[in-house]
Amino acid sequence: MSRKILILPGDHIGPEIMTEAVKVLDLVNERFKLDLSLDHALLGGAAIDACGVPLPEETLTKARASDAILLGAVGGPEWDKLERHLRPERGLLGLRSELQLFGNLRPALLYPQLAEASSLKAELVAGLDILIVRELTGGIYFGEPRGIRTLDNGERQGYNTYVYSESEIRRIGHLAFSLARQRDKRVCSVDKSNVLEVTVLWREVMEEVARDYPDVELTHMYVDNAAMQLVRAPKQFDVLVTGNMFGDILSDAAAMLTGSIGMLPSASLDQQGRGMYEPCHGSAPDIAGKGIANPLATILSVAMMLRYTLNEVPAAEAIEQAVSAVLDQGLRTADIHSGDYQRVSTSEMGEAVIRALQA
Ligand code: NAD
Ligand code: IPM
Ligand code: MN
Repeated sequence: MSRKILILPGDHIGPEIMTEAVKVLDLVNERFKLDLSLDHALLGGAAIDACGVPLPEETLTKARASDAILLGAVGGPEWDKLERHLRPERGLLGLRSELQLFGNLRPALLYPQLAEASSLKAELVAGLDILIVRELTGGIYFGEPRGIRTLDNGERQGYNTYVYSESEIRRIGHLAFSLARQRDKRVCSVDKSNVLEVTVLWREVMEEVARDYPDVELTHMYVDNAAMQLVRAPKQFDVLVTGNMFGDILSDAAAMLTGSIGMLPSASLDQQGRGMYEPCHGSAPDIAGKGIANPLATILSVAMMLRYTLNEVPAAEAIEQAVSAVLDQGLRTADIHSGDYQRVSTSEMGEAVIRALQA
């Protein structure tokens, strides 16, 4: 039976990078006889403009019925003044929450060809291969109560709640440990347990989970130190497991180690391994419409989809090798461009990946 993939281009550079990723997906679908059927839907600002809400019922229905989702990016300044529940980002958060996509995998992998594009010295990042496992459906992003209220003295106060239940911590812990088993068998749990009770519990539960994985080493680090260590000596890490907001911040920092945020793909998985796949970056309104966005994070997200949800590892590897081949050819979008290389546009980069796949 044909498997359903839902395509959500989103806003600004979202549709630009998605065009290239879909070309790649179409090609591997045919080449590897994957029998995937693609459908499209609206999310974020595009959905607000068309139907007034960031996550239309039709999109949610299609998302529930699909085996995997590929997302570009959502958001932009034109929707920033809307109420929180109507903002484009709410559509993305709603989808993550409705589909219970609690496990966010963000692999910061350095392609050796890009060592010079990293903001760190080449020797600090050579061979870098970190996996950030971010909890995605809980923590301060979803905690209640939340809001902005007016105090008796007339001053307004904004508030959010940082909360994690044991079961939420346990399931992200198990995901991180089982992934570490397939790698270098080291998990570093990142928290702020010197200050926040919620992460005291996080640390305790991680210790409990670790007992089921005696072959995997568990260490703990405070988030401020982890941010520092990521830019001081990033290769000390194998798997980093952390909560929603810390993971959001640390993964953008880790992205830069690999040369550009335009290189970092992600998977957001539920308990059954169904998932949504998207680049870690946003809709980059500052460069939208110029044809210069790097499509590789989205193309590599297609590879993650083939690997993690669809179990089509040879097709995933073919895409990863094609990306490596275009970097070998010296092709670079503006974000990873420097001196001696050939600067290419979004579509030229996509076409080059297609040619490498056909070679
Ligand atoms: P951003 O990631 O969109 O951009 C940050 C910087 O990185 C910008 O200078 C941008 O030009 C650059 N950049 C990002 N992706 C790139 C690519 N593929 N190629 C080349 N350069 C790239 O973050 P931001 O500016 O803070 O946010 C812009 C909008 O995107 C906001 O509305 C935000 O809420 C939204 N956002 C969405 C997602 C998502 O959909 N998953 C993720 C992050 C931010
Ligand atoms: C990400 C983004 C989102 C997040 C926003 C757009 C809601 O920054 O996917 O990293 O904070 O999770
Ligand atoms: Mn982010």
